Amino acid sequence: MRTITLIKGDGIGPEISKSVVDIFEALKAPIEWDFQEAGADVAEKEGSPLPQKVLDSIKKNGVALKAPVTTPIGKGFRSVNVTLRKELDLYASLRPAYNIPGIKTRYENVDLITVRENTEDLYAGIERKVDDDTMESIKLITRGASTRIAEFAFEYARKNGRKTVSAISKANICKLTDGLFLECARNVAEKYPEINYNEVLVDNLCMQLVQNPTKYDVLLLPNLYGDIVSDLAAGLIGGLGVAQGANIGKDCAVFEAVHGSAPDIKGQNKANPTALLLSSVMMLEYIGENELADRLKNAIFNVLKGGVSLTADLGGNAATTEYTEAIIKEINR
Ligand code: NAI
Repeated sequence: MRTITLIKGDGIGPEISKSVVDIFEALKAPIEWDFQEAGADVAEKEGSPLPQKVLDSIKKNGVALKAPVTTPIGKGFRSVNVTLRKELDLYASLRPAYNIPGIKTRYENVDLITVRENTEDLYAGIERKVDDDTMESIKLITRGASTRIAEFAFEYARKNGRKTVSAISKANICKLTDGLFLECARNVAEKYPEINYNEVLVDNLCMQLVQNPTKYDVLLLPNLYGDIVSDLAAGLIGGLGVAQGANIGKDCAVFEAVHGSAPDIKGQNKANPTALLLSSVMMLEYIGENELADRLKNAIFNVLKGGVSLTADLGGNAATTEYTEAIIKEINR
């Protein structure tokens, strides 16, 4: 039995994490959940939206599955997600975007992955008020973090038989910061002669991704561009309801969907748990449970291919619980 931290999150978090727990029970996965809470409700009770015991649990278990947590906009506490990534040094955000069986999209043969630097850039949270009419935020890029994420991207490409790494920047404008990011990527690329390397400006990349996403393979990006481009990539493969992700560091990994807490559909039994489920497939692969990962992935894909029990975001009218039941039935077949 392996213990894994599970953060149920808020908004649609509790609904979609229940779906994962029920499905893992049906799979008879050798996993024991260590349930932890984070977010606004916890902040009221415990004085912090991310209590130390949550961090301790992840450090102890080494792996966590996390449902989304709401971040107050323009005020309030710092994002739990950003804090978690920083505190645990989860420096690589990995977000695969490939065509999912049964989900009709504009493009076929999309198979790209965003590798996003997760600890610095504008997300370092270094902001200050200059005066009432002027605010300032620092875009922090370091050689250490840029080299580390480039190494992660190339290593990922090598291990997974990927052919090309594209480094994304706005180095024509941010000459020093994005310039350093590219310099580090180039240096690392030299050590991987079997992998093609190219550089694309982020605005051009966005245009090209909506015109012909099949051109791209592994995208290596600083934090902000990575955040935006990975949502764009989610849109190419069926939307946020199916977009999976992982945050990986040297000692721990936290698996989570790309989407947020979707307050607009909270508590309505409408949310699509696929993104969190596919993130849990990544988690199973990470801990070496490959057979279980394949069984879960196949069950999800078979239900999606069936086209009957789809949630509203995919054009169906199944409730979260009905979709979950359909996957459990498929597992038990
Ligand atoms: P969102 O991703 O929560 O929602 C955007 C749209 O997609 C909404 O219309 C929502 O209903 C829909 N959607 C998202 N996930 C879905 C799912 N699984 N099934 C069906 N429909 C789904 O983004 P939004 O509204 O910008 O953010 C809401 C909150 O989530 C914010 O407080 C934000 O900071 C937080 N957030 C948290 C993240 C995390 O915990 N990792 C990541 C992104 C945002």
